[in-house]
Formats: sequence, C-alpha cells, structure tokens
Amino acid sequence: MLEQTVQIVSNERDTDLYFRLVLQAPQIAPLVQPGQFAHVRILPMKEALLRRPFSIFQVEGDTFSILYKSVGKGSDRLARMKPGEELSVIAPLGHGFSVPKDGGETPLLVAGGYGMAAMYLLAQRSPQKGLVFVGGRRRVDILCEDEFRALGWDVRVTTEDGSRGEKGLVIHPLITELRRSTVGRKLFACGPNPMLKAVGTIAEEFNVPAELSMDEHMCCGVGVCLTCVIPVKAADGWEYQRTCTEGPVFDARQIAWEVAK
Ligand SMILES: Cc1cc2nc3c(=O)[nH]c(=O)nc-3n(C[C@H](O)[C@H](O)[C@H](O)COP(=O)(O)OP(=O)(O)OC[C@H]3O[C@@H](n4cnc5c(N)ncnc54)[C@H](O)[C@@H]3O)c2cc1C
Ligand code: FES
Repeated sequence: MLEQTVQIVSNERDTDLYFRLVLQAPQIAPLVQPGQFAHVRILPMKEALLRRPFSIFQVEGDTFSILYKSVGKGSDRLARMKPGEELSVIAPLGHGFSVPKDGGETPLLVAGGYGMAAMYLLAQRSPQKGLVFVGGRRRVDILCEDEFRALGWDVRVTTEDGSRGEKGLVIHPLITELRRSTVGRKLFACGPNPMLKAVGTIAEEFNVPAELSMDEHMCCGVGVCLTCVIPVKAADGWEYQRTCTEGPVFDARQIAWEVAK
C-alpha cells in the first residue's frame, strides 16, 4: 500500500453514467490484486479532506484505471478534472478476491452496477473462464459487457426494466444456472448490499462457495476509524470486522446477515 500524488492520464465519459479515469502510477500498478481499491483524495476540493474509495478496474503498464459514476460532491468534481492534473491516492487497499487456480473451480461472477469494475482483473487473471451475470435497473447501468466477452467469458445480462438482456433481477439467471449444475463452481459477487445478501443466501442454499465484495461507506480506508465495520460470525456469536482492511471481499459464510444493518 502506497500513498502517492499521481497524474491523470485521461478522464473521459465512458457510458451515459460512468467516467473512466486513468492514472499514471508506476509504483502502485504492479502491486494491484483483483478486488482491491484505491482511496482517492480530490486535491482541488479544499473542503473535502475525506477520500473516496473506488475499485481498481484495469491495470495497464504503469497505469491503473477506475470506472466511476458522478453521484455527489467528490465524484462530480472528479468528473471535471483534466489530464495532467493531480490526485492523491492510497492504493492498492483491502483484501481482494482469490483468483481461481488452473483446473480449479469454475467462477460464476455476479455484478450489479459498478460491481463490474471490481471484477475485471479477476476475470482477466483467472485461468478458468466462466460466466458473468451482470444486472442493473436499466440498460445504462450495464457496464463492460464487451470487455468481459473479449476476455472469453460468457456474459448474461439482465435489466429490471427489460431494456437490455433478460428482464428481471441478476440472481434469476444465476439460480437457473445453479439448478443446472453446482459441481466445481464458485460464486464471486460485487454490487449493492441487498444483491450481495441474495447471492449469499443462494450460495448457502445451493451449497457453493462464494466471495462477496461488500460496499460500505468509508472514511480513513486504512483500518483506523471503524466507519466501515460489518458483523461477521465468531466463535462466541459475532464480531465486527473492517471492510477496508479485512475486506472488502469476505467469504459469504462469514457474514452475520442477521445482525447486519
Ligand atoms: C470498496 C468500494 C469500492 C467502490 N468502487 C466504486 C467504483 O468502482 N465506482 C463507483 O462509481 N463507485 C464506487 N464506490 C462508491 C464510491 O466510493 C462513492 O460513490 C463515492 O464515495 C461518492 O462520493 P461523492 O463525494 O461523489 O458522494 P457524496 O456526496 O459523499 O455522496 C453522494 C451519494 O453517494 C452515496 N455513497 C457514498 N459512498 C457510497 C458507497 N460506498 N456506496 C454506495 N453509495 C455511496 C451517498 O450515500 C450519497 O447518496 C465504491 C465504494 C466502496 C466502499
Ligand atoms: S474506513 Fe476507517 S476503518 Fe475502515
């Protein structure tokens, strides 16, 4: 993990909703593992001391990129930054996904919205190609479909309004697929917490392993402030663990959903 001031290589609109930010970070890029994130401080925002967490999407040579949506003050300011300007980043952070071994489990990835960004490196580095279930409310929420196909993955799209792919929730084709077979399969998911909870329940019902990347609000990003804690099972009931350091990726069986917010 490094704290560095890095330069923006490019920062362009990628889809109707998302921007793609590429950062020159030769020391950070080689360290990145799938599912890790960068904690970004937007230097022109004098009032914003707090950093914003974003999954590391791609790594290419000396650069890494993030895919982000403008949802508030920080991301809106970020969207107006230009190549050559600087950001402060702490990265790579967090405990990421375990990459399947050659000849090991077949991965089934489940993503909602920017969850796809967190899973690209996993898909790229996994020697086992599998299936990607991507869902969103509308077609504009569907990200990176072509990029995952270009890696040789079978991509199944669902939208709640039916404007792209199958109409419904992302978990419906997942359930259909698991009814076909569970043998040698493992789930990896990133998206909104209700989707993750549903994937965790499905994993339990079908008795397949699952890793979930939890989405919690963060402040420090390095394990100090305890803003990001979630309840996980422990020998005598449950205890809190930090999403920024013990996570964001947890084994689904660890999470104590019954006490989660
Ligand atoms: C581990 C991790 C990885 C993430 N990866 C990405 C990514 O790849 N791409 C991306 O676009 N976003 C990602 N996010 C969410 C991103 O951090 C927030 O959208 C961002 O912090 C919002 O900052 P802001 O100043 O623009 O919004 P604010 O003005 O702080 O808030 C605006 C709105 O965004 C909501 N928001 C803030 N933080 C989160 C959060 N963690 N999850 C959901 N909603 C939030 C607030 O509740 C509020 O409604 C990730 C979050 C985490 C914890
Ligand atoms: S964000 Fe501060 S402990 Fe996780």
